[in-house]
Amino acid sequence: MNSASHSHSPAAPPLTILTGASRGLGLGVAQVLLAKGHRLLTLQRKPNPSLVGTDASQLVQWSVDLTDPVPVAACLQAWLAACSPGSFSALNLIHNAALLVEPGPLSDADPAAISAATRASLEAPLVLTAAFLKASEGFDGPRKVLSISSGLGRNAMAGSVVYCAVKAGMDHYSRALALEEAQKPRGAQIVSLAPGIIDTDMQVQLRGADRGKFPEGARFASFKSEGRLDSPQVAGAKIVAYLERADFGSRVIADVRDPA
Ligand SMILES: NC(=O)c1ccc[n+]([C@@H]2O[C@H](COP(=O)([O-])OP(=O)(O)OC[C@H]3O[C@@H](n4cnc5c(N)ncnc54)[C@H](OP(=O)(O)O)[C@@H]3O)[C@@H](O)[C@H]2O)c1
Repeated sequence: MNSASHSHSPAAPPLTILTGASRGLGLGVAQVLLAKGHRLLTLQRKPNPSLVGTDASQLVQWSVDLTDPVPVAACLQAWLAACSPGSFSALNLIHNAALLVEPGPLSDADPAAISAATRASLEAPLVLTAAFLKASEGFDGPRKVLSISSGLGRNAMAGSVVYCAVKAGMDHYSRALALEEAQKPRGAQIVSLAPGIIDTDMQVQLRGADRGKFPEGARFASFKSEGRLDSPQVAGAKIVAYLERADFGSRVIADVRDPA
């Protein structure tokens, strides 16, 4: 797809590459995208067998570990290069996968866990985005890079230093990348999106954390007890609705609750 200018086909389905589709928010997003007819490539450690497409060509699930993202990016670039651009109306990359360090003070954290969380949650989006943009630069249809950020990338919280850092990094690389892409004739649209609060394993980990090390766990417990969490399906529909907004990319740092 990357050598010369390639015509997209407006009548064809969009191709969406989604990380972390095995459970949680990513699974909800994947289900909505499949129902809307997207071709989908998903990347996670353990693909979810309950996720199925209408036929074998609609859904491809890779089993990959994003704590080692460079070989994954090479595979992605080669896979995209082998795709026929006329098969798609649009190309999307959604960075959803993230890995938490055990909530608590950074001074108590396992260095290997800090490194793994940073690589899966920030390094992987950067190297996968580079591969995606390179492999698709000749594509003449719309291209979007949507990173799932968090309110904690914008507001600091004790006991979540690594998570705050990777989400702030996601927001700021998106700002810088949007400037670069705006200089290109057919640059990609870039958004870093806070998804709301969702009833997933990540919330279980936060509210179940040792309160002695992570007093904020009480706040996460109240989100659940007060019924404030979206289901992954409801949150997934909100993410896909944002992806489809006509003004996608006009606001780089965004929130699903932003008015259109
Ligand atoms: N839940 C919330 O309230 C909330 C709020 C704000 C933002 N977010 C953001 O929303 C996104 C999804 O969160 P979630 O709550 O759905 O999380 P989750 O339930 O913990 O799911 C995380 C997903 O990431 C994948 N993943 C984790 N480590 C990976 C690795 N090393 N390699 C490949 N894939 C990996 C997991 O798949 P495997 O285990 O199969 O690898 C899984 O599909 C994250 O970016 C999170 O920061 C969530």
